[in-house]
Amino acid sequence: MAAVSESDLDALAAAARAARAHAHAPYSGYRVGAALLDERGRVHNGCNVENAAYPQGLCAEAVALGALVTGGGTRVRAVVVAGGGANPVVPCGGCRQKLSEFAAADTPVIAVDDTAIRARHTLGELLPFGFGPAHVRSA
Ligand code: THU
Repeated sequence: MAAVSESDLDALAAAARAARAHAHAPYSGYRVGAALLDERGRVHNGCNVENAAYPQGLCAEAVALGALVTGGGTRVRAVVVAGGGANPVVPCGGCRQKLSEFAAADTPVIAVDDTAIRARHTLGELLPFGFGPAHVRSA
């Protein structure tokens, strides 16, 4: 898979921030946007969508994955997550698993805030020894 360029990262950060602006987070007040680069160089984004029935809320990464799959994407080449607060945002455990269905261990997962890149990881660093399609196929 081709390397992710700085202009790809700029587009992903802009899309993640734009999605974050639409977050529905009246309960936590923690607004998140996510943007995914697919195998064709297209960007798909999503925001968190909370619900009065709290467990029914959706994370931004899950919403962005839905957009990617709905748009015909099959692979995630890069992830940018936009959040606020003192600690750089990272995908929750469930979203790490969801991303791993479509992304490789070396896929960059980058945290941004309103103005800057705050952290860079790979999915493999965030989800070591993850359960994946190969486990199911070899069962
Ligand atoms: N949240 C995300 O959207 N993505 C993450 O990776 C971490 C958490 C959302 C879920 C909930 O709406 C709010 O942030 C607080 O947990």
